[in-house]
Amino acid sequence: MTDFDTVDYFADPDLVPDPHPYFDHLRAQCPVKKESHYGVYAVTGYDESVEVLRDANLFSSAVAVGGPFPPLPFAIEGDDITDLIEQHRAQLPMFEHMVTMDPPRHTFARSVLNRLLTPARLKENEDFMWRLADRQLDEFLAAGKSEFLSEYAKPFSLLVVADMLGVPEEDHQQFRIVLGAAQPGQRVGALDSESLATNPLAWLDDKFVGYISERRDNPRDDVLTSLALAKYPDGSTPEVIDVVRSATFLFAAGQETTAKLLSAAMRVLADHPEVQQALRDDRSLIPTFIEETLRMDSPVKSGFRLATRATTVGDVDIPVGSTVMFCPGAANRDPRRFDDPHEFRLDRANFREHMAFGRGVHSCPGGPLARVEGRVSIERILDRMLDIGIDEAHHGAPDDRTYRYEPTFILRGLSDLHITFTPNP
Ligand code: HEM
Repeated sequence: MTDFDTVDYFADPDLVPDPHPYFDHLRAQCPVKKESHYGVYAVTGYDESVEVLRDANLFSSAVAVGGPFPPLPFAIEGDDITDLIEQHRAQLPMFEHMVTMDPPRHTFARSVLNRLLTPARLKENEDFMWRLADRQLDEFLAAGKSEFLSEYAKPFSLLVVADMLGVPEEDHQQFRIVLGAAQPGQRVGALDSESLATNPLAWLDDKFVGYISERRDNPRDDVLTSLALAKYPDGSTPEVIDVVRSATFLFAAGQETTAKLLSAAMRVLADHPEVQQALRDDRSLIPTFIEETLRMDSPVKSGFRLATRATTVGDVDIPVGSTVMFCPGAANRDPRRFDDPHEFRLDRANFREHMAFGRGVHSCPGGPLARVEGRVSIERILDRMLDIGIDEAHHGAPDDRTYRYEPTFILRGLSDLHITFTPNP
């Protein structure tokens, strides 16, 4: 039995299969509770999480991804560390990506995305999703069983981002191979670059520097050109590398998270025949089903902020320089906000209030995309797969299921999900 008062949330594998009893334990003591190993203030309450995320001046995103790892590259001095953060920013992990930036630089980086995530572009991207869903299902449907993450969720979420960015379809297979979502039998050796096997992100950067530079020299009528010609809010032109980073970060932010949403949704469908039947009987329930999946199994498990000045959250004092951790999944099961928070309910009145996509200036710009990915996938899955169930050979009998989750404190998602079904071609 895990001792929640002494367990190391960041390292203990016992918390990986189900972190919620630990979150509940913390919240029951206080919705803002300092954990004992790294002195991180864990925020498990809903209102308190919103309070932190809405104040980007008081709570810097400089440590958004790594939290207390590695430790800060400077000593905390004075009662406002905003300038210290700026001086040392380049020593912090992922400093070049918007998720760790603070306004005003963050506002500039994010504005590049406005070119991409327009209603018209989302519509074109949705048309692609319907075609892609069928293409992915065709790859394994006849077998009547599937490891859903590798055969559907990962390649689907990867190729949706590729299409959103306007990557030409002839390059899609290359992206699947490099980013680990290839069909069996496809080989990295089929590509020419030496670096891609060791560093896919460097390969992505190189690839997009090529696309963007070429479009700046020879504009065409395509999405990459509109990205290449994007201007900052003050009318200046971003460096090529800055446009590239806004683009390639979408793969980091949008692929794994959405694959986790899709597999969590599939697990509910396969494990709960009554939910599956309810959706088959009334497809208009699908959007609610997606939201409730996001609330119950929020793919982002923890994110972090750095207190630039001393403050209070709830009634708890937070000293200057403290690392504050928000946990969307914990806030989404706060009983002060959601009745019966551990129950999956399709009739939940306030299902839209979950904060799986965060809040404030960093709130997820890909939320609308992820929701459509969920809806399109579930529609086509229900059409083409009947009697979906969990593969007992891999996960055990209904009263004794075992699921493996990725051993990370940053994301929450299944490592694999084996399902069976009757094909309905
Ligand atoms: C179910 C899927 C997804 C979930 C649960 C999710 C969740 C989140 C959360 C919680 C944040 C806020 C991080 C913070 O405040 O520190 C975030 C940021 C972000 N997400 Fe998502 N995301 C998802 C899908 C996507 C997709 C599909 C894209 C794009 C294609 C995307 C792009 C981004 C970007 C660029 C940021 C950084 C925004 C900023 O710093 O201003 N996400 N996401």
